[in-house]
Amino acid sequence: MRLPEDFWYPVLQSREVGRKPRRFERLGQHLVFWRTRDRQPHAHLDRCPHLGAALSGGSICDDRLVCPFHGFEFDAGGQCRHIPALGRQGGVPKGMAVRTFPVREIDGLIWLWWGKERAEYPAVPQFPLLAEGWRHGTIAVDWPVHYTRAIENQLDVAHLAFVHRTTIGAGGRSFVEGPHVEADFQGIRVWVTNSRDEGRVARSPEQLREAAADRRPSLSFLFPGIWLLNIAPRLQQFVAFVPINERKTRYYLRVYHRHRNLLVAKIFEAMIGLSNRFILNQDRRVVVTQTPADSADAHDDRPIGADRAILEFRRLHAALLARGGSSNQAGAEHGRDGCRSDVSPGG
Ligand code: FES
Ligand SMILES: [Fe+2]
Repeated sequence: MRLPEDFWYPVLQSREVGRKPRRFERLGQHLVFWRTRDRQPHAHLDRCPHLGAALSGGSICDDRLVCPFHGFEFDAGGQCRHIPALGRQGGVPKGMAVRTFPVREIDGLIWLWWGKERAEYPAVPQFPLLAEGWRHGTIAVDWPVHYTRAIENQLDVAHLAFVHRTTIGAGGRSFVEGPHVEADFQGIRVWVTNSRDEGRVARSPEQLREAAADRRPSLSFLFPGIWLLNIAPRLQQFVAFVPINERKTRYYLRVYHRHRNLLVAKIFEAMIGLSNRFILNQDRRVVVTQTPADSADAHDDRPIGADRAILEFRRLHAALLARGGSSNQAGAEHGRDGCRSDVSPGG
């Protein structure tokens, strides 16, 4: 699938990755995730380089991922370290390695590097809320849509009065002023006011810019796919958009709050989680009907001024695809030069 390259993608919640190897579909790939004894997470293509079996069906032995088919053992860097059929004194053929992706674990999420291998990687894109003492609860929701449509839905400031008429869009506030949008290759910041249409002329872009100067953005988006909605001084919503394949996107939807009492926090998170599921379902009903599936192909759309944030997303996303190419061949390929002669026998 087409994806901007050279980014950290949020792919999983920390709690989904344990010591046992587990298969997940992410970024159009079947991947296997596991942890070494030091709790570090690791990710590889879920395909043994020997005869193509899924490594996720195997086991972990002494911090090595063991293929269930012929017992080849791979270290966390993807190098094959032992081939039982060749014996303890036998070597390991050059190039016997499984494709391995750099991963990071930050704020309860696992991030996977999609792009070229580097000596040093940039920082993971983040809204530094946990460092500021916010707490959170997270739910996961899968949508049968391309990730571009899922992201654009959360940058769309003109749909609330219609799609969410019975919930967050109640009150008929269909008139959109702005949005004022600032956008660059890091992300998109959106300031917007929704009100009832009382025949007023919308404020000029200059007035909107001035009004935005002393306010935090209503919405913030960071490439390749995290989003923050500033609801109230003590309440924010976060989404990590996770491309699964061309037809499926996962939302990790997280409420950030300031409740200190653990019980109150858990009840609050559960209630917001339920309400979020309901509201998101209202979006889903419409977004699944959008054509074409990938907004990069939506050349016949006729956007209006209120769609400015969506247009900025399309512009920057297209530039990122053009910059990095796009393919399933991308991804760091550690250890492609095969096992060294100092490979320790046995294990
Ligand atoms: S297919 Fe994995 S060891 Fe043979
Ligand atoms: Fe919505």
